[in-house]
Amino acid sequence: MKRKSHGLAFFLIVMIFGVQTMFAQTRNLMPVPQQVEWQKGKVRVDSSFTVQVKGHPHPRLYKAVGRMIHRLAGRSGLFLPQSFFDPQETICHPNLLVTVKRPAAIQLNEDESYTLTVANSQIQLQAETDLGAMHGLETLLQLLSADTEGYYFPQVKINDAPRFPWRGLLIDACRHFMPMEVIKRNLDGMAAVKLNVLHWHLSEDQGFRVECKTYPRLHQLGSDGNYYTQEQIKEIIAYAADRGIRVIPEFDLPGHATSWLVGYPELASAPGPYKIERNWGVFNPTFNPTIEATYTFLDGFFKEMAALFPDAYIHIGGDENNGKQWNANPQIQLFMKTHHLEDNHALQSYFNNRLLKILTKYGKKMVGWDEILHKDMPTNIVIQSWRGRDSMIKAAQQGYQTILSNGYYIDLIQPTDYHYLNDPAPQDLPVTPDQRSLILGGEATMWAEMVSPETVDSRIWPRTAAIAERLWSAGEVRDVDDMYRRLETVSFHLEELGLTHEKNYDMLLRRLTGNRNISALKTLVDVIEPVRIYNRNRLRKQFAYTPLTRVVDAARPDAAVARKFRKQVDNYVAAKNSNLELEEQIRLQLQLWADNDGNLQPIIDVSPVLFEIRQLSQNLSAVARIGLEALTYRKNPKVRPSNWAQKSLVILEQAAKPQAQTNLMIVSAVKKLAGVGEN
Ligand code: ACM
Repeated sequence: MKRKSHGLAFFLIVMIFGVQTMFAQTRNLMPVPQQVEWQKGKVRVDSSFTVQVKGHPHPRLYKAVGRMIHRLAGRSGLFLPQSFFDPQETICHPNLLVTVKRPAAIQLNEDESYTLTVANSQIQLQAETDLGAMHGLETLLQLLSADTEGYYFPQVKINDAPRFPWRGLLIDACRHFMPMEVIKRNLDGMAAVKLNVLHWHLSEDQGFRVECKTYPRLHQLGSDGNYYTQEQIKEIIAYAADRGIRVIPEFDLPGHATSWLVGYPELASAPGPYKIERNWGVFNPTFNPTIEATYTFLDGFFKEMAALFPDAYIHIGGDENNGKQWNANPQIQLFMKTHHLEDNHALQSYFNNRLLKILTKYGKKMVGWDEILHKDMPTNIVIQSWRGRDSMIKAAQQGYQTILSNGYYIDLIQPTDYHYLNDPAPQDLPVTPDQRSLILGGEATMWAEMVSPETVDSRIWPRTAAIAERLWSAGEVRDVDDMYRRLETVSFHLEELGLTHEKNYDMLLRRLTGNRNISALKTLVDVIEPVRIYNRNRLRKQFAYTPLTRVVDAARPDAAVARKFRKQVDNYVAAKNSNLELEEQIRLQLQLWADNDGNLQPIIDVSPVLFEIRQLSQNLSAVARIGLEALTYRKNPKVRPSNWAQKSLVILEQAAKPQAQTNLMIVSAVKKLAGVGEN
């Protein structure tokens, strides 16, 4: 691992922790284990590689070993018969011996620790539970290396356990329905980076996604036919459990509730009828918390769902209730008066308390978004912080268990390092040690307004791997450059699980060009990103039926080519133009971009879906030409025309504006090269 400016910090960390090997080399490990002691030597892997499992694991581990061997074979081309793993088979001297003390329960706070020793005599993986063993198998796969002689594992001793027990990914299957294979391949990705909670967002204004036998109009009228049958739900829960992942369903109440009310309008706070929502945003339809019919209905509903979902926790949403229907309903206003409920928040807490009784009756604990935090709520509920990390701190200070999602909103297209450096519990958090222990972890949130099954992986991965590291690894693991270096490898390995974040890129570009040569389009899209935060909908109103196949959809968050270019320019400028090799790399890159518009416009001409990027393509080339001129003038300021900076700035500022709901991500670097404007 390269350490430059962080040299002193690194030295201090080593001094403080006294673990000389802690960060000595992270290689391709993500999340970075708690302790790593690298040793000299390589343990060769060939087709005689065998595995044995001893002890008392849950049988899920045998399937996991089979999958690991299958992936090992897939990477190495070795013919490994134990891909069909038979735990009964006697192996005299297994190359990998896995020993597990007891079967795990798939529940919060289960032991997930493991030790992995790669030595020439044998590779030994030891764990209290099969969960730890499965994490160790993922670590081992990340260790696989190659040289001119073949494949090998480096000799190493690893001692590992998670920093936080709740490490989740929310998948919104409502705004756009996510078929079974999407959920499954993402569960595989989660397991690969040691995430352990799938938060499955299953009801929304735009869709109700679970078959409900007690109230069948929920899925029949609220889903456009896109829902999971109960057999499918069980299949996903089993698939997740096989990978050590808990499944927590979210049924969003009392707001975000249009799809429930399509079939059951009598439960709403205003007369219906209701239709499935096709817009994005916050809408009025809200359950009526003042009528007993609501609680009778929810009792029947949660009785059924509590039996379907085995986890101890159920998420009841609770977010973004705009209160408009409540304000307009005289009967609700009267109820508030007679029950001394001073505002809508108090009324919602009344509702939540009624809901809590129902969940408790069916053996479940409540999780909800931070709006459920209220003085009337008991502390045996979990607060999920999304509007600001303050709510997480406040929750912990008031004695609630809490999880952080603020800062992990991967739908907002922010760069990986932003999420990565967002620590749920940094040293300076204003909490006592007891309060600190109430911070259970965090969840990345994949809200699905702007993603389809084709693009969702590209918003989840690879950035979620960095969030997974934040939630697993020591807080001191914060080297952004090293994270990005490892992320590239992790991202590539995630593809072997069927994730489509890389391979669908070319496919989407091909579709945009009508199956023409995609290289010029790729050169452009490599350096643009979808606009961040909620700006896509602001720049051009989007609907549930908006196609998610446009340039903005092919474009990816944290565009790597642009990020690397910005880094090169930073380094070049910092070295005061003296690095000639870097200068040449920058020049070649700029030249490619300067020429690109000439190659791309003929493709745009015959691809109407691309008309919207004409200006964007021109901008890339114009910006690149300024960059090339800047390289010349940096060396030879005398030949620089007097109005060049001013003229260039106008072009650069224009190019910095969004086009086709995307941003060109090299403009700031070219401004820096040109020495103009703010960057
Ligand atoms: C949320 O993003 N409305 C929880």
